[in-house]
Amino acid sequence: MNTYDSEVIAGILHANGYQQIFDPKDAGLIIINTCSVRKHAEERAFANLWDLYHEAPKTAKKPIFCVAGCTAKKMGKEILKKYPFVDIVVSPSNLYDLPKIIATCQKTKKPQLQIEDKIGYIKKNFPVIHTGKIKALVTIMQGCDNYCSYCVVPFVRGKEISRPIKNIVTEIKSLVKKRYKEVTLLGQNVNSYRDGKNDFTDLLKRVNAIPGLKRIRFMTNHPKDMSDKLINTMAKLDKVCRHVHLPLQSGSDWILTKMNRGYTTAHFLGLVRELRQAVPGITITTDIIVGFPGETEDNFRATMEVARQAEFDAAFVFKYSPRPGTNAGLLKDSVPAEIKQSRLEKVNRLQQETALRISRGLIGKTLEVLVEDLATDRKHLFGKTAGYRTVVIKGPANCIGKLIPVKITACKNWTLYGKLS
Ligand code: 5AD
Ligand code: SF4
Repeated sequence: MNTYDSEVIAGILHANGYQQIFDPKDAGLIIINTCSVRKHAEERAFANLWDLYHEAPKTAKKPIFCVAGCTAKKMGKEILKKYPFVDIVVSPSNLYDLPKIIATCQKTKKPQLQIEDKIGYIKKNFPVIHTGKIKALVTIMQGCDNYCSYCVVPFVRGKEISRPIKNIVTEIKSLVKKRYKEVTLLGQNVNSYRDGKNDFTDLLKRVNAIPGLKRIRFMTNHPKDMSDKLINTMAKLDKVCRHVHLPLQSGSDWILTKMNRGYTTAHFLGLVRELRQAVPGITITTDIIVGFPGETEDNFRATMEVARQAEFDAAFVFKYSPRPGTNAGLLKDSVPAEIKQSRLEKVNRLQQETALRISRGLIGKTLEVLVEDLATDRKHLFGKTAGYRTVVIKGPANCIGKLIPVKITACKNWTLYGKLS
Protein backbone atom coordinates (compact mmCIF):
# COMPACT_ATOMS: atom_id res chain seq x y z
CA MET A 1 0.00 0.00 0.00
CA ASN A 2 2.86 2.35 0.85
CA THR A 3 4.68 1.66 -2.39
CA TYR A 4 1.50 2.49 -4.27
CA ASP A 5 0.99 5.67 -2.21
CA SER A 6 4.56 6.73 -3.06
CA GLU A 7 3.80 6.12 -6.74
CA VAL A 8 0.70 8.31 -6.42
CA ILE A 9 2.72 11.08 -4.70
CA ALA A 10 5.27 10.95 -7.54
CA GLY A 11 2.46 11.00 -10.13
CA ILE A 12 0.58 13.93 -8.62
CA LEU A 13 3.69 16.02 -8.12
CA HIS A 14 4.97 15.22 -11.61
CA ALA A 15 1.64 16.37 -13.05
CA ASN A 16 2.19 19.63 -11.15
CA GLY A 17 5.61 20.31 -12.66
CA TYR A 18 7.87 18.55 -10.16
CA GLN A 19 10.71 16.30 -11.25
CA GLN A 20 11.79 13.22 -9.32
CA ILE A 21 15.53 13.18 -8.64
CA PHE A 22 17.72 10.49 -7.17
CA ASP A 23 20.38 12.41 -5.21
CA PRO A 24 18.78 13.87 -2.08
CA LYS A 25 21.52 16.55 -1.94
CA ASP A 26 19.92 18.25 -4.95
CA ALA A 27 16.34 18.04 -3.68
CA GLY A 28 14.11 21.04 -3.10
CA LEU A 29 11.47 18.83 -1.49
CA ILE A 30 12.03 15.64 0.48
CA ILE A 31 9.10 13.37 1.34
CA ILE A 32 9.38 10.44 3.73
CA ASN A 33 6.39 8.17 3.26
CA THR A 34 6.04 6.31 6.55
CA CYS A 35 4.53 3.01 7.70
CA SER A 36 3.34 2.58 11.28
CA VAL A 37 2.49 -1.12 11.33
CA ARG A 38 5.47 -1.98 13.55
CA LYS A 39 7.73 0.18 15.71
CA HIS A 40 10.80 -0.84 13.71
CA ALA A 41 9.34 0.65 10.50
CA GLU A 42 8.73 3.95 12.29
CA GLU A 43 12.22 4.04 13.77
CA ARG A 44 13.75 3.48 10.34
CA ALA A 45 11.68 6.29 8.83
CA PHE A 46 12.84 8.79 11.46
CA ALA A 47 16.46 7.61 11.21
CA ASN A 48 16.26 8.32 7.46
CA LEU A 49 14.68 11.69 8.13
CA TRP A 50 17.56 12.68 10.47
CA ASP A 51 20.20 11.49 7.98
CA LEU A 52 18.62 13.46 5.17
CA TYR A 53 18.34 16.57 7.34
CA HIS A 54 22.00 16.39 8.36
CA GLU A 55 23.09 16.12 4.74
CA ALA A 56 20.84 18.94 3.53
CA PRO A 57 21.88 22.63 3.33
CA LYS A 58 20.77 24.68 6.32
CA THR A 59 20.77 27.92 4.32
CA ALA A 60 17.93 29.47 2.32
CA LYS A 61 18.33 26.43 0.07
CA LYS A 62 17.07 24.09 2.80
CA PRO A 63 14.66 21.66 1.17
CA ILE A 64 11.05 21.42 2.28
CA PHE A 65 10.75 18.35 4.51
CA CYS A 66 7.49 16.43 4.41
CA VAL A 67 6.53 13.44 6.56
CA ALA A 68 3.68 11.56 4.88
CA GLY A 69 1.72 8.34 5.50
CA CYS A 70 0.44 6.39 8.46
CA THR A 71 2.90 7.63 11.09
CA ALA A 72 2.10 11.21 10.06
CA LYS A 73 -1.55 10.43 10.80
CA LYS A 74 -0.71 8.73 14.09
CA MET A 75 1.78 11.26 15.52
CA GLY A 76 0.53 14.45 13.87
CA LYS A 77 1.69 17.58 15.73
CA GLU A 78 4.21 15.59 17.76
CA ILE A 79 6.36 15.26 14.60
CA LEU A 80 6.54 19.04 14.22
CA LYS A 81 7.58 19.34 17.87
CA LYS A 82 10.22 16.58 17.78
CA TYR A 83 11.59 17.47 14.35
CA PRO A 84 11.26 21.26 14.09
CA PHE A 85 12.86 21.29 10.62
CA VAL A 86 9.84 19.39 9.22
CA ASP A 87 7.58 21.66 7.15
CA ILE A 88 4.67 19.37 6.22
CA VAL A 89 2.92 16.47 7.97
CA VAL A 90 0.32 14.77 5.77
CA SER A 91 -1.80 11.63 6.31
CA PRO A 92 -2.60 9.03 3.60
CA SER A 93 -6.04 10.45 2.79
CA ASN A 94 -4.59 13.95 2.26
CA LEU A 95 -1.72 13.00 -0.06
CA TYR A 96 -3.84 14.05 -3.00
CA ASP A 97 -3.76 17.67 -1.85
CA LEU A 98 0.03 17.80 -1.62
CA PRO A 99 0.56 20.41 -4.40
CA LYS A 100 -1.84 22.78 -2.60
CA ILE A 101 -0.30 22.06 0.81
CA ILE A 102 3.24 22.67 -0.50
CA ALA A 103 2.15 25.94 -2.14
CA THR A 104 0.60 27.14 1.15
CA CYS A 105 3.74 26.16 3.03
CA GLN A 106 5.92 28.12 0.58
CA LYS A 107 3.64 31.16 0.69
CA THR A 108 3.05 31.35 4.44
CA LYS A 109 6.45 29.90 5.48
CA LYS A 110 4.49 28.10 8.20
CA PRO A 111 4.43 24.35 8.98
CA GLN A 112 1.41 22.55 7.53
CA LEU A 113 -0.45 19.75 9.32
CA GLN A 114 -3.09 17.90 7.27
CA ILE A 115 -4.14 14.71 8.98
CA GLU A 116 -7.93 14.71 9.24
CA ASP A 117 -9.65 11.71 7.58
CA LYS A 118 -11.05 12.24 4.10
CA ILE A 119 -13.21 9.39 2.87
CA GLY A 120 -13.88 10.31 -0.73
CA TYR A 121 -10.41 10.25 -2.24
CA ILE A 122 -10.54 6.60 -3.31
CA LYS A 123 -13.39 7.51 -5.70
CA LYS A 124 -11.11 9.58 -7.92
CA ASN A 125 -8.47 8.54 -10.45
CA PHE A 126 -5.04 10.08 -9.92
CA PRO A 127 -1.93 10.13 -12.08
CA VAL A 128 0.48 7.41 -10.92
CA ILE A 129 4.15 6.92 -11.78
CA HIS A 130 4.64 3.17 -11.58
CA THR A 131 8.04 1.92 -10.48
CA GLY A 132 8.19 -1.01 -12.91
CA LYS A 133 7.40 -1.36 -16.61
CA ILE A 134 5.89 -4.85 -16.72
CA LYS A 135 3.74 -5.10 -13.60
CA ALA A 136 1.84 -2.47 -11.66
CA LEU A 137 0.05 -2.06 -8.35
CA VAL A 138 -3.58 -0.90 -8.49
CA THR A 139 -5.42 0.05 -5.33
CA ILE A 140 -9.04 -1.12 -5.11
CA MET A 141 -9.99 0.01 -1.63
CA GLN A 142 -8.88 2.13 1.29
CA GLY A 143 -8.99 1.52 5.04
CA CYS A 144 -10.02 -1.45 7.14
CA ASP A 145 -12.91 -2.17 9.55
CA ASN A 146 -11.53 -5.37 11.07
CA TYR A 147 -9.81 -4.02 14.17
CA CYS A 148 -7.49 -6.96 14.76
CA SER A 149 -6.39 -6.18 18.30
CA TYR A 150 -2.67 -5.72 17.47
CA CYS A 151 -3.13 -3.61 14.36
CA VAL A 152 -2.91 0.15 13.90
CA VAL A 153 -4.20 0.18 10.31
CA PRO A 154 -7.91 0.94 11.04
CA PHE A 155 -6.79 3.95 13.10
CA VAL A 156 -4.43 5.39 10.50
CA ARG A 157 -6.13 4.43 7.23
CA GLY A 158 -9.72 4.93 8.34
CA LYS A 159 -12.92 3.14 7.38
CA GLU A 160 -13.01 0.58 4.61
CA ILE A 161 -14.24 2.02 1.30
CA SER A 162 -14.09 0.37 -2.12
CA ARG A 163 -13.03 2.15 -5.27
CA PRO A 164 -15.65 2.14 -8.05
CA ILE A 165 -15.20 -0.81 -10.43
CA LYS A 166 -15.35 1.55 -13.44
CA ASN A 167 -12.32 3.55 -12.24
CA ILE A 168 -10.30 0.41 -11.58
CA VAL A 169 -11.05 -1.02 -15.03
CA THR A 170 -10.20 2.32 -16.70
CA GLU A 171 -6.85 2.47 -14.88
CA ILE A 172 -5.96 -1.11 -15.84
CA LYS A 173 -6.94 -0.56 -19.49
CA SER A 174 -4.62 2.44 -19.64
CA LEU A 175 -1.84 0.34 -18.08
CA VAL A 176 -2.34 -2.32 -20.76
CA LYS A 177 -2.04 0.41 -23.42
CA LYS A 178 1.33 1.25 -21.89
CA ARG A 179 2.29 -2.43 -22.30
CA TYR A 180 1.92 -3.50 -18.68
CA LYS A 181 1.28 -7.24 -18.47
CA GLU A 182 0.40 -7.82 -14.83
CA VAL A 183 -1.57 -6.00 -12.15
CA THR A 184 -1.77 -6.58 -8.40
CA LEU A 185 -5.09 -5.46 -6.95
CA LEU A 186 -4.38 -3.94 -3.55
CA GLY A 187 -6.37 -3.48 -0.38
CA GLN A 188 -6.11 -4.27 3.33
CA ASN A 189 -8.76 -6.91 2.81
CA VAL A 190 -9.60 -7.36 -0.88
CA ASN A 191 -12.06 -10.20 -0.18
CA SER A 192 -14.53 -7.73 1.27
CA TYR A 193 -14.42 -5.42 -1.79
CA ARG A 194 -17.92 -4.16 -2.56
CA ASP A 195 -19.00 -1.60 -5.15
CA GLY A 196 -22.79 -1.45 -5.17
CA LYS A 197 -23.91 -4.87 -6.36
CA ASN A 198 -20.40 -5.99 -7.31
CA ASP A 199 -18.21 -8.05 -5.00
CA PHE A 200 -14.55 -9.00 -5.40
CA THR A 201 -15.32 -11.96 -7.69
CA ASP A 202 -17.23 -9.61 -10.06
CA LEU A 203 -14.21 -7.29 -10.10
CA LEU A 204 -11.91 -10.22 -10.90
CA LYS A 205 -14.17 -11.26 -13.79
CA ARG A 206 -14.21 -7.72 -15.21
CA VAL A 207 -10.41 -7.40 -14.97
CA ASN A 208 -9.92 -10.89 -16.41
CA ALA A 209 -11.86 -9.78 -19.52
CA ILE A 210 -9.47 -6.89 -20.31
CA PRO A 211 -7.73 -7.80 -23.60
CA GLY A 212 -3.94 -7.71 -23.53
CA LEU A 213 -3.63 -8.13 -19.76
CA LYS A 214 -1.78 -11.37 -18.96
CA ARG A 215 -1.82 -11.78 -15.20
CA ILE A 216 -3.85 -10.71 -12.17
CA ARG A 217 -2.68 -10.91 -8.56
CA PHE A 218 -4.35 -9.58 -5.44
CA MET A 219 -3.49 -8.95 -1.82
CA THR A 220 -4.14 -9.15 1.00
CA ASN A 221 -6.89 -11.54 2.08
CA HIS A 222 -8.62 -12.22 5.36
CA PRO A 223 -9.35 -15.90 6.11
CA LYS A 224 -12.78 -15.02 7.53
CA ASP A 225 -13.81 -13.51 4.16
CA MET A 226 -12.25 -16.14 1.86
CA SER A 227 -15.48 -17.52 0.37
CA ASP A 228 -16.10 -20.68 -1.71
CA LYS A 229 -17.28 -18.33 -4.44
CA LEU A 230 -13.88 -16.60 -4.52
CA ILE A 231 -11.98 -19.91 -4.50
CA ASN A 232 -14.09 -21.20 -7.41
CA THR A 233 -13.67 -17.92 -9.31
CA MET A 234 -9.88 -18.10 -8.87
CA ALA A 235 -9.97 -21.62 -10.28
CA LYS A 236 -12.01 -20.57 -13.32
CA LEU A 237 -10.33 -17.34 -14.44
CA ASP A 238 -7.28 -17.95 -16.63
CA LYS A 239 -5.42 -14.71 -15.82
CA VAL A 240 -5.74 -14.98 -12.05
CA CYS A 241 -2.42 -16.31 -10.78
CA ARG A 242 -2.19 -19.49 -8.74
CA HIS A 243 -1.11 -17.66 -5.60
CA VAL A 244 -2.91 -16.53 -2.51
CA HIS A 245 -1.55 -14.61 0.47
CA LEU A 246 -3.57 -15.80 3.46
CA PRO A 247 -2.35 -14.41 6.80
CA LEU A 248 -2.58 -16.98 9.60
CA GLN A 249 -1.12 -14.69 12.33
CA SER A 250 -1.26 -17.48 14.94
CA GLY A 251 -1.91 -21.22 15.07
CA SER A 252 -3.42 -21.03 18.56
CA ASP A 253 -7.20 -20.62 18.77
CA TRP A 254 -6.82 -18.84 22.11
CA ILE A 255 -4.41 -16.28 20.63
CA LEU A 256 -6.58 -15.90 17.50
CA THR A 257 -9.52 -14.95 19.74
CA LYS A 258 -7.34 -12.46 21.61
CA MET A 259 -6.27 -11.07 18.25
CA ASN A 260 -9.94 -10.65 17.23
CA ARG A 261 -9.31 -12.51 13.99
CA GLY A 262 -12.72 -14.15 13.68
CA TYR A 263 -11.65 -17.68 12.59
CA THR A 264 -10.22 -20.84 14.10
CA THR A 265 -7.20 -22.84 13.00
CA ALA A 266 -9.58 -25.63 11.86
CA HIS A 267 -11.33 -23.15 9.55
CA PHE A 268 -7.97 -21.89 8.27
CA LEU A 269 -6.68 -25.39 7.49
CA GLY A 270 -10.01 -26.17 5.80
CA LEU A 271 -9.47 -23.17 3.50
CA VAL A 272 -5.95 -24.36 2.68
CA ARG A 273 -7.34 -27.79 1.72
CA GLU A 274 -10.10 -26.26 -0.41
CA LEU A 275 -7.67 -23.92 -2.18
CA ARG A 276 -5.25 -26.76 -2.97
CA GLN A 277 -8.08 -28.91 -4.30
CA ALA A 278 -9.66 -26.18 -6.46
CA VAL A 279 -6.41 -24.68 -7.76
CA PRO A 280 -3.83 -27.48 -8.12
CA GLY A 281 -0.25 -26.32 -7.51
CA ILE A 282 -1.37 -23.09 -5.83
CA THR A 283 1.24 -21.15 -3.86
CA ILE A 284 0.04 -20.19 -0.39
CA THR A 285 1.98 -17.55 1.53
CA THR A 286 1.22 -16.16 4.96
CA ASP A 287 1.99 -13.69 7.76
CA ILE A 288 2.71 -14.90 11.29
CA ILE A 289 3.14 -12.85 14.47
CA VAL A 290 5.21 -14.40 17.27
CA GLY A 291 5.20 -13.20 20.88
CA PHE A 292 1.68 -11.75 21.08
CA PRO A 293 0.92 -10.83 24.73
CA GLY A 294 0.43 -14.00 26.77
CA GLU A 295 1.70 -16.37 24.03
CA THR A 296 2.88 -19.50 25.85
CA GLU A 297 5.29 -22.18 24.62
CA ASP A 298 2.21 -24.36 23.91
CA ASN A 299 0.52 -21.58 21.91
CA PHE A 300 3.70 -21.17 19.88
CA ARG A 301 3.98 -24.93 19.31
CA ALA A 302 0.43 -24.81 17.93
CA THR A 303 1.56 -22.15 15.41
CA MET A 304 4.47 -24.36 14.32
CA GLU A 305 2.08 -27.29 13.93
CA VAL A 306 -0.40 -25.35 11.76
CA ALA A 307 2.50 -24.00 9.65
CA ARG A 308 3.73 -27.58 9.21
CA GLN A 309 0.29 -28.83 8.19
CA ALA A 310 -0.48 -25.89 5.90
CA GLU A 311 2.90 -26.29 4.12
CA PHE A 312 3.16 -22.60 3.30
CA ASP A 313 5.39 -21.75 0.38
CA ALA A 314 6.60 -18.72 2.32
CA ALA A 315 5.84 -16.95 5.57
CA PHE A 316 6.56 -13.39 6.64
CA VAL A 317 7.21 -13.71 10.35
CA PHE A 318 7.02 -10.68 12.66
CA LYS A 319 7.84 -10.16 16.30
CA TYR A 320 4.82 -8.65 18.04
CA SER A 321 5.26 -4.90 18.36
CA PRO A 322 2.85 -3.09 20.70
CA ARG A 323 1.02 -0.27 18.93
CA PRO A 324 -0.35 2.53 21.09
CA GLY A 325 -4.08 3.03 20.64
CA THR A 326 -4.82 -0.61 19.79
CA ASN A 327 -6.55 -3.00 22.19
CA ALA A 328 -3.52 -5.28 22.43
CA GLY A 329 -1.40 -2.18 23.11
CA LEU A 330 -3.17 -2.00 26.50
CA LEU A 331 -1.91 -5.48 27.44
CA LYS A 332 1.50 -6.16 28.94
CA ASP A 333 4.03 -6.99 26.20
CA SER A 334 4.80 -10.12 28.20
CA VAL A 335 6.97 -12.23 25.90
CA PRO A 336 10.67 -11.33 26.36
CA ALA A 337 12.56 -10.07 23.30
CA GLU A 338 14.92 -13.07 23.18
CA ILE A 339 12.00 -15.53 23.21
CA LYS A 340 10.30 -13.60 20.39
CA GLN A 341 13.59 -13.79 18.46
CA SER A 342 14.01 -17.53 19.01
CA ARG A 343 10.37 -18.22 18.02
CA LEU A 344 10.83 -16.13 14.88
CA GLU A 345 13.95 -18.12 13.97
CA LYS A 346 12.14 -21.43 14.56
CA VAL A 347 9.30 -20.53 12.16
CA ASN A 348 11.80 -19.24 9.60
CA ARG A 349 13.81 -22.49 9.78
CA LEU A 350 10.66 -24.56 9.28
CA GLN A 351 9.69 -22.36 6.34
CA GLN A 352 13.10 -22.70 4.70
CA GLU A 353 12.79 -26.48 4.87
CA THR A 354 9.26 -26.37 3.43
CA ALA A 355 10.20 -23.93 0.65
CA LEU A 356 13.19 -26.06 -0.33
CA ARG A 357 11.08 -29.25 -0.39
CA ILE A 358 8.44 -27.60 -2.60
CA SER A 359 11.13 -26.07 -4.86
CA ARG A 360 12.84 -29.47 -5.32
CA GLY A 361 9.49 -30.90 -6.44
CA LEU A 362 9.42 -28.31 -9.25
CA ILE A 363 12.76 -29.41 -10.79
CA GLY A 364 12.19 -30.94 -14.22
CA LYS A 365 8.82 -29.20 -14.64
CA THR A 366 8.11 -26.56 -17.28
CA LEU A 367 6.50 -23.44 -15.83
CA GLU A 368 5.23 -20.29 -17.46
CA VAL A 369 7.34 -17.29 -16.40
CA LEU A 370 6.70 -13.58 -16.92
CA VAL A 371 10.19 -12.20 -17.56
CA GLU A 372 10.67 -8.91 -15.72
CA ASP A 373 14.26 -7.80 -16.31
CA LEU A 374 17.93 -8.74 -16.37
CA ALA A 375 19.07 -10.54 -13.20
CA THR A 376 21.54 -8.77 -10.87
CA ASP A 377 24.50 -10.46 -12.63
CA ARG A 378 23.27 -8.75 -15.88
CA LYS A 379 23.89 -12.07 -17.71
CA HIS A 380 20.69 -13.91 -16.81
CA LEU A 381 17.05 -12.86 -16.82
CA PHE A 382 14.64 -13.06 -13.95
CA GLY A 383 10.90 -13.41 -13.72
CA LYS A 384 8.08 -14.89 -11.70
CA THR A 385 5.97 -18.00 -12.09
CA ALA A 386 2.20 -17.75 -11.68
CA GLY A 387 2.89 -19.10 -8.18
CA TYR A 388 5.10 -16.07 -7.43
CA ARG A 389 8.35 -18.05 -7.45
CA THR A 390 11.37 -16.09 -8.63
CA VAL A 391 13.13 -17.81 -11.54
CA VAL A 392 16.62 -16.98 -12.82
CA ILE A 393 16.72 -17.90 -16.49
CA LYS A 394 19.24 -18.47 -19.26
CA GLY A 395 17.73 -16.77 -22.27
CA PRO A 396 17.88 -13.79 -24.63
CA ALA A 397 17.03 -10.26 -23.42
CA ASN A 398 14.20 -9.94 -25.94
CA CYS A 399 12.18 -12.22 -23.63
CA ILE A 400 11.74 -9.30 -21.16
CA GLY A 401 8.04 -8.51 -20.86
CA LYS A 402 7.00 -11.88 -22.31
CA LEU A 403 5.41 -14.97 -20.85
CA ILE A 404 7.73 -17.85 -21.70
CA PRO A 405 7.88 -21.56 -20.85
CA VAL A 406 10.88 -22.30 -18.61
CA LYS A 407 12.23 -25.72 -17.72
CA ILE A 408 13.28 -25.70 -14.06
CA THR A 409 16.77 -27.17 -13.61
CA ALA A 410 17.80 -26.24 -10.06
CA CYS A 411 16.68 -24.44 -6.91
CA LYS A 412 17.95 -22.64 -3.84
CA ASN A 413 15.33 -22.24 -1.10
CA TRP A 414 12.65 -20.05 -2.68
CA THR A 415 14.51 -19.21 -5.92
CA LEU A 416 14.33 -21.45 -8.98
CA TYR A 417 16.79 -21.67 -11.90
CA GLY A 418 15.86 -22.68 -15.40
CA LYS A 419 16.27 -22.40 -19.14
CA LEU A 420 13.96 -21.55 -22.00
CA SER A 421 12.23 -24.79 -22.89
N1 5AD B 1 3.20 -6.37 15.53
C1 5AD B 1 3.77 -7.28 14.70
N2 5AD B 1 3.29 -7.54 13.47
C2 5AD B 1 2.20 -6.87 13.06
N3 5AD B 1 1.50 -6.91 11.91
C3 5AD B 1 0.49 -6.02 11.97
N4 5AD B 1 0.51 -5.39 13.17
C4 5AD B 1 1.57 -5.91 13.86
C5 5AD B 1 2.11 -5.67 15.15
N5 5AD B 1 1.55 -4.79 15.99
C6 5AD B 1 1.82 -7.84 10.82
C7 5AD B 1 0.66 -8.78 10.53
C8 5AD B 1 0.14 -8.27 9.22
C9 5AD B 1 1.41 -7.74 8.57
C10 5AD B 1 1.18 -6.77 7.46
O1 5AD B 1 2.06 -7.09 9.64
O2 5AD B 1 1.17 -10.09 10.39
O3 5AD B 1 -0.48 -9.28 8.43
FE1 SF4 C 1 -4.85 -4.83 10.32
FE2 SF4 C 1 -6.53 -6.89 10.65
FE3 SF4 C 1 -7.19 -4.85 8.99
FE4 SF4 C 1 -5.20 -6.57 8.29
S1 SF4 C 1 -7.40 -7.09 8.56
S2 SF4 C 1 -5.17 -4.33 8.15
S3 SF4 C 1 -4.28 -7.05 10.29
S4 SF4 C 1 -6.94 -4.75 11.21
